[in-house]
Amino acid sequence: MNHLKIGIIHNEPIPKGEPNWESSADVLVQVEAIEAALRDLGQPQVRIPFTRDLGSFVSQVKAAGIALAFNLCESVDEDPLLIGHPAAVLELLGIPFSGSSAMALLLSTDKLTIKRLLTASGLHTPAFFLYEGNEVLRPAGLNFPVILKPRYQDASIGIEQESVVENSADLLPRLEDLYARYGAILVEEYVAGREFNVSLFGYPKARVMPLAEIDFSGFPAELHRIVSYKAKWDEDSFEYHHTRRIFPDNLPEPLQQAMRHLAQDCFALFGLRDYARVDLRLDRHGRLTILEINANPCLSPDAGFSAAVAESKMSYTEMVGEFLRLVTRRVAL
Ligand SMILES: Nc1ncnc2c1ncn2[C@@H]1O[C@H](COP(=O)(O)OP(=O)(O)O)[C@@H](O)[C@H]1O
Ligand SMILES: [Mg+2]
Repeated sequence: MNHLKIGIIHNEPIPKGEPNWESSADVLVQVEAIEAALRDLGQPQVRIPFTRDLGSFVSQVKAAGIALAFNLCESVDEDPLLIGHPAAVLELLGIPFSGSSAMALLLSTDKLTIKRLLTASGLHTPAFFLYEGNEVLRPAGLNFPVILKPRYQDASIGIEQESVVENSADLLPRLEDLYARYGAILVEEYVAGREFNVSLFGYPKARVMPLAEIDFSGFPAELHRIVSYKAKWDEDSFEYHHTRRIFPDNLPEPLQQAMRHLAQDCFALFGLRDYARVDLRLDRHGRLTILEINANPCLSPDAGFSAAVAESKMSYTEMVGEFLRLVTRRVAL
């Protein structure tokens, strides 16, 4: 494997200061971390950005002569609907790459498709309806509070304290505002219980990494306990400093088992590969419910997936080495 040149494929982030630039810029943190790990592993490597300029991408790939790739693309030119397209191009070029296939990436970037597939498979996800701008608003069967989530966004983009709506009078104005910014919006029952992140590592079978929980215990009563955009990205915010990830060592065994099973079911259902993260919450009946499935979880050293791997006593470089083994094992190189 050592002689093979590895391409690190990434989307181009938007300039600092534009709306949501923080989450966009994070891809370069991942690029740098993977580069450093590959250097430690003695692997030749090259960065190749993926934009709508497909001709340029293909010629850079050909010129570099890469044998396999790390696919870190989270969008193409900020369009999350194109998340699967770099993977699709790599598939067409016959270049094996880390992480999920184009199909799995596309299916799981659409929160509506996620919920439809989960529901059809008997896996529990909060009740919801879809708002697309002009239908009559009758949240049939939904209990307040609800949370509003852009159908196609990720990284908590569009998720703010104001996204949690307590009553029907507030619903339409909030929806109109979010719809104007992000298009279709899921209106989902708000699940107030504990939040867990389950990281899955491997292919074709994944092992479940140590179970992580978001610790909201420092939140005052007036703040909704959600991992909003601020909580994820705004280092100056209260929420950023009070949504610590912890690895509780006292979770009841049946709950742990249920989380592992549920996450494995999601991994199989969406045909995920190598690395993935499933976000869960406990509802008021103590039942686990699936918030979303991340086919390309953030791989920054301080993000949930890497933190869970570190908790299992594996270093970041070892993790990247294992990713390489998973890719090479998929194809006879
Ligand atoms: N139904 C829900 N009930 C309570 N909190 C939710 C719900 N859906 C999302 N959240 C909160 O919003 C955060 C982001 O939502 P999520 O569905 O994971 O979208 P993203 O892809 O942006 O991470 C979650 O981590 C959680 O804190
Ligand atoms: Mg999430």
